[in-house]
Amino acid sequence: MLKTFLTCCVVSLFVVGGFVGFSISADPGPAEMTLTDASSAKPKPAKFPHKLHQDAFSCAECHHGMDADGKKVDYVDGQAIGKCADCHNADKLAGKMKDKLDLATLKGAGHGNCLECHKAMAKEKPELAEKKIASCATCHPKS
Ligand code: HEC
Ligand code: HEC
Ligand code: HEC
Ligand code: HEC
Repeated sequence: MLKTFLTCCVVSLFVVGGFVGFSISADPGPAEMTLTDASSAKPKPAKFPHKLHQDAFSCAECHHGMDADGKKVDYVDGQAIGKCADCHNADKLAGKMKDKLDLATLKGAGHGNCLECHKAMAKEKPELAEKKIASCATCHPKS
């Protein structure tokens, strides 16, 4: 009963939200994208099915913010989401490394996030290893 009531409330909030032109859910961004580093001399575009990942993981798995001291801040629901390269660039994160990855580049952010997870998941799940999710061509298909 309570559950039905709550469902009704949520549904009507969405309806009202849609009707008057605001939304209570976060902007999901594009469903499909190609990530490329405009500042790089040799960019290597990466295919990224955003929606597929949103269906499997939380926003906080990839998105985060930064405080005034340049420290990473965990994602909170509804926060403004920008481009990775807004922070992962030579001005803002110069000298910051994660293992051997240079976090002042989009490659560092991309490999630290995307490739690390793909490697971990391929280790964990044989069916994903079989799909070669950690291989270069999964993200960087030959055109
Ligand atoms: C697996 C990683 C991942 C997950 C999970 C994820 N995103 Fe993203 N999202 C990205 C990447 C990468 C971009 C591209 C950023 C860029 O262009 O530099 C992006 C872009 C966006 C953008 C567009 C930002 C812009 O200014 O162009 C929005 C909005 C967004 N995501 C919202 C969300 C929300 C809301 C969720 C959770 C429901 C979510 N994302 C889950 C990785 C992810
Ligand atoms: C608002 C600024 C900002 C944005 C936008 C941002 N990052 Fe970060 N990111 C940081 C900061 C700050 C750190 C911590 C750097 C340090 O001190 O080592 C960090 C760290 C990381 C790390 C290192 C591992 C960790 O969790 O500390 C990865 C990988 C990463 N970011 C990937 C991404 C990806 C992918 C995106 C886009 C979806 C993104 N970041 C967007 C600021 C940002
Ligand atoms: C938290 C873990 C995680 C992160 C972070 C992540 N992925 Fe994935 N990704 C997966 C998993 C798991 C699959 C396999 C889904 C399946 O086939 O069931 C996948 C699948 C893919 C595929 C193949 C989709 C297809 O059509 O088979 C591409 C391309 C891809 N990811 C690119 C990226 C890129 C680019 C990023 C970073 C912007 C990224 N991923 C970040 C876990 C992750
Ligand atoms: C899970 C996804 C994923 C996998 C797998 C992956 N990459 Fe990437 N890679 C990215 C993303 C995202 C970027 C940032 C986009 C860009 O720099 O154009 C990137 C950037 C790069 C760049 C930077 C180009 C430049 O100088 O700006 C190189 C080189 C690269 N990758 C090589 C590789 C190689 C080699 C492999 C296999 C060992 C590989 N990548 C596997 C996602 C991936």
